[in-house]
Amino acid sequence: MVMPSLAVRLAGLELRNPLSVASGTFGSGREYSAVWESSVESRCAPNQGAPALSALGAMTTKGVSLRPWPGNQGTRIVECASGMLNSIGLQNPGVEEFCANDLVWLSGQDVPVIVNVCGHSADEYVQVIERLERETAVSAYEVNISCPNVDCGGMAFGTQPAAAEAVTAACRAATKRPLFVKLSPNVTDIAEIARAAASGGADALSLINTVAGMAIDVRTRAPVLPRVVGGLSGAAVKPIALYAVHRVSQAVKLPLVGMGGVRCATDVLEFMLAGATVVAVGTHNFTDPLAVLRIRDGLTDWCASEGVARIDEIIGGLRI
Ligand SMILES: Cc1cc2nc3c(=O)[nH]c(=O)nc-3n(C[C@H](O)[C@H](O)[C@H](O)COP(=O)(O)O)c2cc1C
Repeated sequence: MVMPSLAVRLAGLELRNPLSVASGTFGSGREYSAVWESSVESRCAPNQGAPALSALGAMTTKGVSLRPWPGNQGTRIVECASGMLNSIGLQNPGVEEFCANDLVWLSGQDVPVIVNVCGHSADEYVQVIERLERETAVSAYEVNISCPNVDCGGMAFGTQPAAAEAVTAACRAATKRPLFVKLSPNVTDIAEIARAAASGGADALSLINTVAGMAIDVRTRAPVLPRVVGGLSGAAVKPIALYAVHRVSQAVKLPLVGMGGVRCATDVLEFMLAGATVVAVGTHNFTDPLAVLRIRDGLTDWCASEGVARIDEIIGGLRI
C-alpha cells in the first residue's frame, strides 16, 4: 500500500505534516528534542536519523519580545479539572538573546520555524520583526495579540477590531514573510477580529489563545494567581477552540492554525475538518512529551484505514 501523504501547504510554506506546537508550551524545542531522540517513536519514524524536530510540520517558538521580559511574580500555574491556568506573563530573554541562542540551534533542526512575537505596543512588535528579518532561519511570524497575562499590549490588541487591524498592518509593512495573527477567544465574536486581522494583511490566523479564568484559595479567600486572571488551556477548552476554528473558517478565506486542548490524532482530524490546515499541540506536551510523535503516527494510520491518500483533502470537509 502507498503511504498516505501528510503534507500540507500553509501560506506558502510546504510542511511535511499538519502538526505544530502551541507557543509557550514547547520552549524552543531543545528539551523536547532530547526526549524525542531517545524515544521508540522516533527510532521507528520515517525520518529516522534526521534532527528530532523535523518530525514536526512546523516549530512554533515561545513568545519573543524586544527586550527581556521577566514574567509574572508568584504563583504562575494552577491545575484545574481537565486543564490548567497559567499566568507566566510571556517571560523570555528578548529578541537578541533569542537570535544568538535558540534560533542558531533551531536552524539545524530542518523544520520551518514560526516565531511567536509579543510586544507592549505596535511599535515593539514591529521592532521585533525588523530584528528577525536579518535572520534566515525564520520562516514565518505569529503575532500574539491575545495573551491575557500581560497588563499592556497582548490581549488589548486582540479584543478590539480596530487595534487588531492596526497592529497587523504595522507588522505587515515590516515583512514579506508569512504573517500569522493569533486570536483570543475572550471576545463576543471572534469572526469580527478575524476579519480585522485579514484586512490588516494577515496571511493566516492562529486560534485559540487561552481562555480567561481564575482560581480562588478558600483558606486565604484570595485569588491563587496574584494577577487574579490566568489563561485556561488543555482539554477543557477544546470544544471552544473547535467552534472558534469553524466560525472563523466561515468568516475569512485565510488558512488557519487550530489549537486548544489537542491530545490525540482524532482531535487533530476534528480541527482539520472544522477548517484548520495546521493543528498545534500545547498543554498536552506537559502531560505526554511524546504526544506529537504519537499523533503523527495516528494520522498516518487513520489516512491508511480510511483510504485517504492526502490528508489535506479533509481540510474544511465538515459535513453540515
Ligand atoms: C504555559 C503556557 C505558555 C504560553 N505562552 C504563550 C506565548 O508565549 N505566546 C502565545 O501566543 N501563546 C501562548 N500560550 C497559549 C498556547 O500557545 C495555546 O494557544 C493555548 O494554550 C491553547 O492550546 P492548548 O490548550 O493545547 O494548550 C501559552 C500557553 C501555556 C499553557
